[in-house]
Amino acid sequence: VMVRSSLIEPDGGALVDLVVPESQRAAKIAEAEALPKVRLGKIDVEWVHVVSEGWASPLKGFMREDEYLQSLHFNCVRMEDGTLVNMSLPIVLPIDDDVKAQIGDSTSVALVGTDGDFVAILSSIEIYKHNKEERIARTWGTTAPGLPYVEEVITAAGNWLIGGDLEVLKPIKYNDGLDHYRLSPKQLRNEFDRRNADAVFAFQLRNPVHNGHALLMNDTRRRLLEMGYKNPILLLHPLGGFTKADDVPLDVRMEQHSKVLEDGILDPETTIVSIFPSPMHYAGPTEVQWHAKARINAGANFYIVGRDPAGMGHPTEKRDLYDPDHGKKVLSMAPGLEKLNILPFKVAAYDTVAKQMAFFDPSRAKEFLFISGTKMRAFARSGENPPDGFMCPGGWQVLVRYYESLQAE
Ligand code: ADX
Repeated sequence: VMVRSSLIEPDGGALVDLVVPESQRAAKIAEAEALPKVRLGKIDVEWVHVVSEGWASPLKGFMREDEYLQSLHFNCVRMEDGTLVNMSLPIVLPIDDDVKAQIGDSTSVALVGTDGDFVAILSSIEIYKHNKEERIARTWGTTAPGLPYVEEVITAAGNWLIGGDLEVLKPIKYNDGLDHYRLSPKQLRNEFDRRNADAVFAFQLRNPVHNGHALLMNDTRRRLLEMGYKNPILLLHPLGGFTKADDVPLDVRMEQHSKVLEDGILDPETTIVSIFPSPMHYAGPTEVQWHAKARINAGANFYIVGRDPAGMGHPTEKRDLYDPDHGKKVLSMAPGLEKLNILPFKVAAYDTVAKQMAFFDPSRAKEFLFISGTKMRAFARSGENPPDGFMCPGGWQVLVRYYESLQAE
């Protein structure tokens, strides 16, 4: 029996799926062999993955110049029918002068992965200038040296961008033991329907889950039940692509998240843990729009946002790069995200009187302790436990083992 899904519509009305059917794979590979080749880096492949499964719906490939300019200047792209969809990060593929020359006047290219295999065909291509300074300044609001994504991807990239329609030759896999966590938007939607979810609330993260994060998620569930929803499902959705060197690696985070569910900090019955394949820009209020938009496509109609989403310390000054309240403010007003219910949260910190994570009360500021990633690392390094109630013991043990392994290096 076909049950009509009551989930939120994806941007553009239909989910984009760019993986060619298996029956056409051999023919497409033969086609790819005859085309000029473009070598992809690890992070380019992550973007192919993201676009191929429809996280960026209605985007159907790497951006051509029109889409790039709209994304860069409006944080949105306009569809043929005139409606705007949010698209705050440019999803682009840089090439250098040599590759551009090799492509010549070909209208399609083959994209080759890091292992030499064909990954995709990019067709009806357009090649345009990659003004890196302008891209960086508009995406991050600064060109200060030390932005992780810029240093990893953009600085050494070519001076051209190539856009076009993607046909992905086979589903992207990482063979790191975590592929079973990488559910596509379509698979997530099927799972939410199977569970008869009447609300789906998403939590984006790139850090281990402490009890302050759990407070946001559990408080949301309580509010949704109060609003009359009968079966709200939590999408606990750690980011799985590129992250900066001092963030906790994905495999360790996945193990930590498992412990949080095992220890009952989050309810396993009403939670789905899955990996969001996007790389991280650390572009604060600009990037949080992308994080939210992608979750609409995966079927979430509620989005939790707290302190300084997608933020980081300023690379050269002693302050946060972004105002920690701007992420949630921008998200609540962002064009193209009107259909998503944004749930903004105040900062949570350790209440030394109640001995638990709680929403920060400025009138008792001295009784609160802020435990940053740096501080967690210091605890683990000195063999000291964080205060009781900061994180479940099972989850903390996973981090201790990770930080100990770092010291051994
Ligand atoms: S992010 O890059 O994925 O945004 P992180 O994993 O640190 O970073 O945060 C995940 C989510 O939790 C974001 O919505 C962020 O705003 C929120 N958050 C993180 N720490 C706190 C905190 N102490 N209080 C309130 N919200 C927080």
